[in-house]
Amino acid sequence: MPAAKETLALGLREHCRGELRVDEPLSAHTTFGMGGPADLFFLPADPDDLQTALPLVRESGLPVLPLGGGTNTLVRSSGFRGVVVDLTKGMTRIEVDADGAVCQAGASLQVASRRCQRAGRAGLAFGCGIPGTIGGAVRGNAGAYGGETLDRLRWLRGVRLGSGEEIRLQQAEISYGYRHADLPGDILILEAGFSLTVDDPDTIRREMDEILARRKATQPLWDRNAGCIFKNPEGTSAGLLIDQAGCKGLRVGQVEVSRLHANFTVNLGGGTAEDVLGLIEQVREHVRRFAGTELETEVRVVGERGLEDV
Ligand code: EPU
Repeated sequence: MPAAKETLALGLREHCRGELRVDEPLSAHTTFGMGGPADLFFLPADPDDLQTALPLVRESGLPVLPLGGGTNTLVRSSGFRGVVVDLTKGMTRIEVDADGAVCQAGASLQVASRRCQRAGRAGLAFGCGIPGTIGGAVRGNAGAYGGETLDRLRWLRGVRLGSGEEIRLQQAEISYGYRHADLPGDILILEAGFSLTVDDPDTIRREMDEILARRKATQPLWDRNAGCIFKNPEGTSAGLLIDQAGCKGLRVGQVEVSRLHANFTVNLGGGTAEDVLGLIEQVREHVRRFAGTELETEVRVVGERGLEDV
C-alpha cells in the first residue's frame, strides 16, 4: 500500500470505532452499480467518531469523497485514489418535532419523508420516491413534483474538509436554484433542519401515493440507473428533447437510453462509466443537431482524483 493510504488506514483502525474497508468496489455503493475501487472507504460509527477521523484524513493529504446514497453518481472504472466517507451507517438519526424535522446527513430522504408523513408533518412528501441521503439531497437541492429540498431547509450544519472549520448556515444565507445549492465545494454536510407544517397523515399519504404512481408509470425504477442524466434546460424537459431527437434505446456497450424515460440511462448489466460517458456524448450530439440545445449533465462524475467536470 502507498504510504499515505497505509498510514491513514492504521490511524483510522487505531483511533476510530467505525468500519474501514480497503479497495472497496464503488459499484456496490452506487445506484448505477458501476465504479472501480476506492482506496479507503470509511463508515464512521457516529458523529463523534467522524470528528476523530477527520483530522487524520486531513493529515493524510488524500482526496476525500463524501458519498451519500450513491445516486446521481457515475464512478469511473479506475475508481478513486482517496478516502470515501459514507455516513449511511452511523449518522442516520431523524427527529420530527412540532414544526419541523432534524435529520443527520446519512439518513435516507425517503425514510425521512415517510417518517414526517406518519407524524402528520407536511413538506417533505416530494422526497418519497427520491433515492439518496439527506446530505446528498441538500448538496444538489434534490426535487420532484414541485418540491425542492432547499425550499424546506431551515438550517444546515457541516464541516469544511480542507480546514476542519464548522459551518452553520441558515436557509436565507444560501443562494440556491434548480438542482443547485451554493455551498463551499469541500463541505461535508452533517445535519439539516427542515421547516414543516402540520397536516393530516392520510392527506399527505395520498399525495405520496400519487407521486409514487406517477414515478412508476414514467421512470425506469426497476432498472439500475442514476436518476436523470441531464438537467432540464430552461423552459423545457431534457427527457422530451432526447426522446424527440430519437435517442430512446440508443446503446453504448452495456448501457442504454431508457425506452421508458429518455433522460434516464440504464445499466443492462456490466455497463461501465466509460459506456455512459460515451452515450452522454452521443445524446448531446443528437440533441444539439435536433434542437440546437446544449445539454448539461446532472449526474456527477467521479474519477481517480475526485469530482470531474464533463
Ligand atoms: N417526456 C417524453 N419522453 C420521455 C420523457 C419525458 O416525451 O422520454 C415528456 C413527458 O411526457 C412530459 C415532459 O417530457 O410531457 C416532462 O417529463 P417528466 O414529467 O417525466 O419530467 P422531467 O422534466 O423529465 C423532472 C425531473 C425529475 C423528476 C420529475 C418529476 C429533471 C432533470 N428531471 O423530469 O427528476 O422526478 O421531473 O418531478 O429535473 C432527477 O432529477 O434525477 C429526476 C429524475
